[in-house]
Amino acid sequence: MKLLLRTNAITMAAIAVMLAFSITPLSAKDYNIAVGDGGGGTQEALGKAFIEALKKSTGGKHTGTLFLNGQLGSEQDTVNNAAIGTLDFSILAINNITPFSPTVGSLTLPYVILSLEDAEKVTQGPIGEQLIKNTVRDAGVRIIAWAYSGFRVLTNSKRPVKSVADLKGLVIRVPKNAIMIDTYKAWGVSPTPMAWSETFAGLQQKVVDGQDNPYITVYAMKFDEVQKYVTNIRYIFSIEPLIISEATYQSLSDEDKAAVIKAGKEATTASAKFLRESESRIKADLVKKGMEISDPENNEKEFIDLATKAVWPKFYESIGGVERLNEVLKELGRDPVK
Ligand code: MLT
Repeated sequence: MKLLLRTNAITMAAIAVMLAFSITPLSAKDYNIAVGDGGGGTQEALGKAFIEALKKSTGGKHTGTLFLNGQLGSEQDTVNNAAIGTLDFSILAINNITPFSPTVGSLTLPYVILSLEDAEKVTQGPIGEQLIKNTVRDAGVRIIAWAYSGFRVLTNSKRPVKSVADLKGLVIRVPKNAIMIDTYKAWGVSPTPMAWSETFAGLQQKVVDGQDNPYITVYAMKFDEVQKYVTNIRYIFSIEPLIISEATYQSLSDEDKAAVIKAGKEATTASAKFLRESESRIKADLVKKGMEISDPENNEKEFIDLATKAVWPKFYESIGGVERLNEVLKELGRDPVK
């Protein structure tokens, strides 16, 4: 009798194992997701929300693993790797996609996006849809979610900066992004282009004195350890998409494609919530850690006038014509430029 029970138990266990294998699809995947920033920031929040939503929308079939802090390469390298299909997903700042698909520059022209609401409106409407098509066409990657990180504030290790004149003599790191390089030139300094993955070391070793990125990114990258002064400039509202290699996307079944898009939409909503709930706490934390915050003089007027006058016209052609900028301005309820 005992022997019979034991045999039955073994048979049941074998059937359970067989069943488990037969209902786990062979194509189940754990995708590698490159993340440019360290933990605690918007990029990680977007990535975590995407993985959770993907698991949910595929009934647990697909998942993903985040590789933080540029472990899978600099942000611009991850665009190349996704384009050739050696990387499936990456979360990175939009300014690091612009060199591969210049029309997304309409989102990084200085002083175009002036709030989180502006960023949501532009990315989640017809303009965002068109930019997604353009990135597939130009760069072989598809944007499936948007993270919102706040304004890129200026930090440096030398002195408080309140005016354009105060910038003189500071060596500022910028991404390899023509719009950002030209913005600093309009402010009278020649910035140093440097990959994101090298920026902490560059600041620490004083190769550069400063950089700009949102408060949340400054916090995630522990820049408070190597930077003291912050200036609340608002020239770029940082948008950080999740991209999927177009080759990977096209290899998915229709059902999986829909699941990925749905997960991306949910992650986008979660990212905006994360920013709304955490930016002021993180800013206060950075002050506690010793950072000193200044506002630019005269409501930033000099910064705004110099940047918009010199930079906007220079990039009309690369973003697809002045009419592309006017579409964005119209969507945001602002007057067009002539
Ligand atoms: C950069 O400055 O290169 C990026 O904005 C960094 C980031 O992805 O947070």
